[in-house]
Amino acid sequence: MRLYLCSAGSEPALQEELPGSRVLAPGVVADAAGAAADPVFARQVLPDAREVQAASVRLLAEAAYGLVEATIDRATGPFLIHDLAPADSGPGLPSRARGVARELRALLAARRKRASRRERPLEDVARPAGAANFGQAWLLVQLLALSADRLLVSAAAPQPLRRGGFDLAPWPRGDAPVAVDRAPPSRAYQKLEEAFFWVGAEPRQGERSVDLGASPGGWTATLLKRGAQVIAVDRAPLEPPLARDARVTTVIGNAFTYQPARAVDWMVSDVVCEPPRSLDLAQRWLAAGLCRNLIVTVKFKGRTGYRILEGVPDRLAAAGAGFVRVKQLAHNKNEVTILARR
Ligand SMILES: C[S@@+](CC[C@H](N)C(=O)[O-])C[C@H]1O[C@@H](n2cnc3c(N)ncnc32)[C@H](O)[C@@H]1O
Repeated sequence: MRLYLCSAGSEPALQEELPGSRVLAPGVVADAAGAAADPVFARQVLPDAREVQAASVRLLAEAAYGLVEATIDRATGPFLIHDLAPADSGPGLPSRARGVARELRALLAARRKRASRRERPLEDVARPAGAANFGQAWLLVQLLALSADRLLVSAAAPQPLRRGGFDLAPWPRGDAPVAVDRAPPSRAYQKLEEAFFWVGAEPRQGERSVDLGASPGGWTATLLKRGAQVIAVDRAPLEPPLARDARVTTVIGNAFTYQPARAVDWMVSDVVCEPPRSLDLAQRWLAAGLCRNLIVTVKFKGRTGYRILEGVPDRLAAAGAGFVRVKQLAHNKNEVTILARR
């Protein structure tokens, strides 16, 4: 059984992408077909998940150990252990999963000492650059507590996807660890911080970027934080401190007609508009070679109209993207994010 994890409330959208799948718990969708796919509405996958049942944490850990021991022993690279619970569950199940993970580590340390040393802490993938090291040489062990006595266990290496990236994410639930920042004028910055993890890169000192729909300036602040230069395009002005920053060029105008004089390193867009306009915008920038990296949010009214996303990765790959994924990020509400690199 292949499990997919999504935001609470996005199960119907994910099921539309995975015909025949069923909802096991909030944010957990099971697909018997088990084919590798990169659904927009899933941020994490548990390949070949197997269920164990036992009455105590210790017995659950023993059963999990039985399932993962040979895989961990056979592997030669680093591994991560994620303890998980369904979306929006109270404190009981996350604590149960944590307890099982703790016991599993103790069993590995006692019985497979050398292999257990290959476990990496989550801090190793807590920055986009570190997360970008996560690949086929790694192993991801996932423990999902469905109830006090039912646990789903998966141990698998990430598999490369057709359009770039891997089917598994290195962060628990696929939720990249976005740090809280009180400086930006809006909380929208969280979406861009999370997107950098998914593209596996972030702007470097002095790189040139265009921020479309920049006001009041959350994304611009996030770009500046990394030392990038920003052309901020919006009909509305940026918050004054950002507008005064010497690295910011403000363009009061239409995001859809703006074009930089020469190609930039990053184009990011958080413009509120109908989905086809965002998709066309992304395609146009990629096809014209106007940016190396692109992050564009696509906003929906309510939870419908997602069909328009079908075939978008192929379309953007045809426009020149070597890496392209479309994902509902943890900080996206009624929106998804296009992540692309030429
Ligand atoms: C969700 S807000 C962007 C928030 C911003 N990313 C931040 O972090 O603070 C969307 C912005 O898109 C701008 N916008 C919508 N249509 C636009 C257009 N055609 N041209 C320029 N800006 C537009 C709006 O003025 C608004 O400031």
